[in-house]
Amino acid sequence: MKVNQAEFIISAVGPAQYPTDALPEIALAGRSNVGKSSLINRMISRRNLARTSSKPGKTQQLNYYKINSDLFFVDLPGYGYAQVSKSEREKWGKFIEQYLLKREYLKLVIHIIDLRHPPSKDDQSMHEWLKHNNVPVCVVTTKADKISRGQWQKHMKIIREAFGMSKDEKIILFSSETGQGKDELWSLIEQQIGY
Ligand code: GTP
Ligand code: MG
Repeated sequence: MKVNQAEFIISAVGPAQYPTDALPEIALAGRSNVGKSSLINRMISRRNLARTSSKPGKTQQLNYYKINSDLFFVDLPGYGYAQVSKSEREKWGKFIEQYLLKREYLKLVIHIIDLRHPPSKDDQSMHEWLKHNNVPVCVVTTKADKISRGQWQKHMKIIREAFGMSKDEKIILFSSETGQGKDELWSLIEQQIGY
């Protein structure tokens, strides 16, 4: 897909604020600081449209970005950030859960994992929960630039096994730094939205 236009639309704190455009939505899920916002920026070739930060817990709402007149990227709040109070976490949890289960325009969840580390408990429960609820999901391992090429397969295998994924379930290797995996991820998104 050629991205001609990308704009921030809204930080939604509840369903009343979701856009009414009836466009397909692609959501980004992952731990705080894993690189969700960076991945959006790389996909649309913008430096900082989706706000990134070296401090975790920056994104706390559903941030909608409209791409051409074709789709929305929905940047979800990161999970697993200990500094946030338990009641705050539960409140978001419910909100995100409702979005993932009920949103009719949601076509794919991109579940982002840091290639360098084995999935955390939170990563595992997120993955299991998505599968269990039949939410369409694709695992994308990011920050590939941070480890040597020779280590990639080994790290992917650890993630694949932790998630109990079969050989034919695809994992996309990604780097927001180098752009690796961008074309492959766009192909998958296009396929998923019937572009
Ligand atoms: P929250 O919004 O807090 O949940 O974080 P996030 O998942 O949106 O992470 P964000 O995109 O803000 O990135 C966090 C940090 O990781 C930033 O310092 C990014 O520059 C860095 N980063 C993200 N992706 C990559 C990558 O592929 N390679 C490298 N080297 N750094 C990355
Ligand atoms: Mg973010």
